[in-house]
Amino acid sequence: MKIDVVSIFPEYLEPLRLSLVGKAIDAGIVELATHDLRDVTHDRHRTVDDSPYGGGPGMVMTAQPWGELLDQLLEVAAPNTRIVVPTPSARPFVQTTAADYAHKNVDLIFACGRYEGIDDRVWRHYEQRVPVDQWSIGDYVLAGGEAAVLVMVEAVVRLLPGVLGNENSAIDDSFTAERGEAAVEGPVFTKPRVWRDLEVPEVLVSGDHARIAQWRRTQSIERTQRNRGDGFAV
Ligand code: 6GU
Repeated sequence: MKIDVVSIFPEYLEPLRLSLVGKAIDAGIVELATHDLRDVTHDRHRTVDDSPYGGGPGMVMTAQPWGELLDQLLEVAAPNTRIVVPTPSARPFVQTTAADYAHKNVDLIFACGRYEGIDDRVWRHYEQRVPVDQWSIGDYVLAGGEAAVLVMVEAVVRLLPGVLGNENSAIDDSFTAERGEAAVEGPVFTKPRVWRDLEVPEVLVSGDHARIAQWRRTQSIERTQRNRGDGFAV
């Protein structure tokens, strides 16, 4: 999977070269390229924004540099490429969104906006050429799309074949439909069996695999009702 990220802070994406996503890059499963939007400006100040039509606070990213950089990227892109735009005003990015990208093995171009966002005509134009998906990662406002891209890329890449050591660890995840009615995982424990007078639940050391599975299901359902009584789609 090829992942391009366009940002005015390309260094913000460097943590993707660490840990699990970094290993996927080293293994050749993911190819990551970051691009500085200011590299395609033509004025001395490397301007990427201007005041909004209609007035109001803040600044809007101009279409010109986005058009130049996205044209460059699409010129050499594979036919299965999609543009992904992180924005708090979009539909929620959820586990099935990540799984869909991973299973289809699409190439992704992430477009990180800053300020009040990007001139909307950029998307009116590019959606005539490739799929443009806008996603929000939650009900709060970030200063830019970069942190959201760190989140979305990690959620997608860990689901690519060969990335997780144990292919079952993704099936067991919270929010994975395969686990059935419950939606978040219950508590986990490891050695020692007693720590500061606190014991590991007896069932987990019983060796009774049916009882263990039943206990985990119950814990998972309880936790889902307690923490996610609002409900969500799996
Ligand atoms: Cl995807 N971007 C920004 N800037 N803020 C957000 C967001 C995305 N999701 C929630 N808040």
